[in-house]
Amino acid sequence: MVEIVGIGPGNPDYLLPIAKMKIEKAKFLVGGKRALATFAKNGQQTFPITKDIDAVLRFITEHKDSVCVVVSGDPGFYSLLDNIREKFSNDEIEVIPGVSSLQMAFSKINLPWHDAKMLSFHGRVPQDEDLEFENNKILGMLTDGVYHSRKIAEILLNFNWNQKSKFIVFERLSYENEKITAMTLEEALNGEPISHGVIIVYEGE
Ligand SMILES: C[S@@+](CC[C@H](N)C(=O)[O-])C[C@H]1O[C@@H](n2cnc3c(N)ncnc32)[C@H](O)[C@@H]1O
Repeated sequence: MVEIVGIGPGNPDYLLPIAKMKIEKAKFLVGGKRALATFAKNGQQTFPITKDIDAVLRFITEHKDSVCVVVSGDPGFYSLLDNIREKFSNDEIEVIPGVSSLQMAFSKINLPWHDAKMLSFHGRVPQDEDLEFENNKILGMLTDGVYHSRKIAEILLNFNWNQKSKFIVFERLSYENEKITAMTLEEALNGEPISHGVIIVYEGE
């Protein structure tokens, strides 16, 4: 079985007990370097997820009977799951959910996410209609080094968001050096670019 296990935002306190069990039992463990450093146990053969996704998929295929792939957050939200689904049939895959970074970000500001539009600027750009301003719209966004806070603020202004909209950046969620910066869209546009975190944008309280 190819198990794809969500490890949550990073701190093991946010790992589900079933995820911990699957990771501990795995003979072959695939994951980002940081995840492997945190979760790999002695005796496990590990393989790091790098930009060379074909090599990662080859390793998974070679060990598909007992491999555990750990991904950040929840596997259902922009992870390696898409690539794995292209290679394997449904009955060869088991997904174990995790707390998404965006789910945690919403919890940090006590804001429900049931009406939010959850998007990714991590190696992609969302559709125009998803970015366009609408009354009461709430955006939750993954970022990366290219699409950082300043770039996203610039894009949202072009999609008619108000300069005074709330713009909250969450870095290193769940870690000891977690940082949450609340500003306006205008301040984000003129501030230091912040990458590799998540951003929530909305109007109102
Ligand atoms: C490949 S995506 C994975 C998203 C993941 N599946 C999820 O549900 O959160 C990687 C992006 O997730 C976000 N991310 C993951 N862990 C984070 C954390 N601890 N704090 C802030 N953002 C995080 C960042 O936007 C990062 O660029």
